[in-house]
Amino acid sequence: MKILVTGGAGYIGSHTVCALLKQGDEVVIVDNLCNSKIEVLKRIEKICGKTPTFYQISVQDEVKLDEVFSNEHVDAIIHFAGLKSVGESVLKPDLYYSNNVGSSEVLIKLMKKHHVKNIVFSSSATVYGTPKRVPLYESDPIGGCTNPYGETKVVIEKMLQEEAKKDPSLNVAILRYFNPIGAHPSGLIGEDPQGIPNNLMPYITQVACKKLECLNVFGNDYDTVDGTGVRDYIHVMDLADGHLAALNKLYQNPGLVIYNLGTGKGTSVLELIHAFEKANNLIIPYVIKPRRPGDIATSYANADKAYQEMKWKAKYNIIDCCKDAWNWQKNNPNGYN
Ligand code: NAD
Ligand code: WQD
Repeated sequence: MKILVTGGAGYIGSHTVCALLKQGDEVVIVDNLCNSKIEVLKRIEKICGKTPTFYQISVQDEVKLDEVFSNEHVDAIIHFAGLKSVGESVLKPDLYYSNNVGSSEVLIKLMKKHHVKNIVFSSSATVYGTPKRVPLYESDPIGGCTNPYGETKVVIEKMLQEEAKKDPSLNVAILRYFNPIGAHPSGLIGEDPQGIPNNLMPYITQVACKKLECLNVFGNDYDTVDGTGVRDYIHVMDLADGHLAALNKLYQNPGLVIYNLGTGKGTSVLELIHAFEKANNLIIPYVIKPRRPGDIATSYANADKAYQEMKWKAKYNIIDCCKDAWNWQKNNPNGYN
């Protein structure tokens, strides 16, 4: 099959591209490199022995994207492209709406024009807002997000659901990722945040390699096992596999499907720090700070539906995640630079 991967040069996209190439698919990446580096293509080639076709364009650029569709005749789309910083989205909501929602509008318009019937969309556990209960089920209410980033995901999910309703021949998989961490076991590709990381794992790895002095733990007074925030950390390799499973599901013409991609297990900030220390025989200095505004106490998935309907479940444990995250960071202290 030939798959168009928007945002394929990014963190999750690059791992998924490798998984696709490994199973013999052809890959066409569309990425404007606003949050990624061209170097990733060389790394993908090193891992897979093949290079995907690459177009450095924005998904918002309808004219150029139309040409890609005309040239490539793809069978399916995986739509990763988007801006993902929660904090930045609060400062620049318009940018987040225009980039994330705007590019999805263009993509949907062109996929219809070119009769592409299968699309997988990168959604997020953030669409559940503040959970009333955990674990989170796909049938739980969405919306009420505390930030514009999350709202863009809710809006795009709704747009895709509308399209699926209008055209029963369209197959849409909405995947709600929990907290992706880790890296390809080769250490050649991984997460490469620009500036000081917002997310916990890249912060930990940068403390481990002494780029940052000390980890700030945001709050130890939540109603959780040890007072720190609990999340469902999922290895990015498992996430990549989830996309292959979703594509296989789409090829059976299911219409609209929605799956949580998580492990079903919650891990606290302190538990993650200690797992990282144990996995890599390192000490991570940390200090307790006030809660981070907008954070919730606990979020983890019920991931049964993905297993029941796609036979997908996470295979890597938290120690694997910590080893692979550190392997990537120590081999690439400055990311792809
Ligand atoms: P990433 O920033 O590493 O990758 C996104 C890629 O999209 C980047 O390479 C960027 O250059 C590209 N991009 C952004 N806007 C574009 C545009 N208009 N046209 C073309 N390319 C564009 O992020 P990621 O962590 O790999 O996330 C991938 C997707 O998964 C995003 O949609 C994100 O919102 C979603 N997601 C991520 C997480 C997470 O924690 N990483 C969790 C849930 C959902
Ligand atoms: C995890 C835990 C923090 C950093 C975000 C987005 C979400 C999704 C995944 C895209 C929390 C604590 C963190 C630090 C800390 N992305 N923490 N010190 O907030 O669950 O989710 O990324 O869709 O939309 O909101 O992930 O890694 O930022 O935080 O103590 O320096 O670690 O308070 O409890 P989060 P995270």
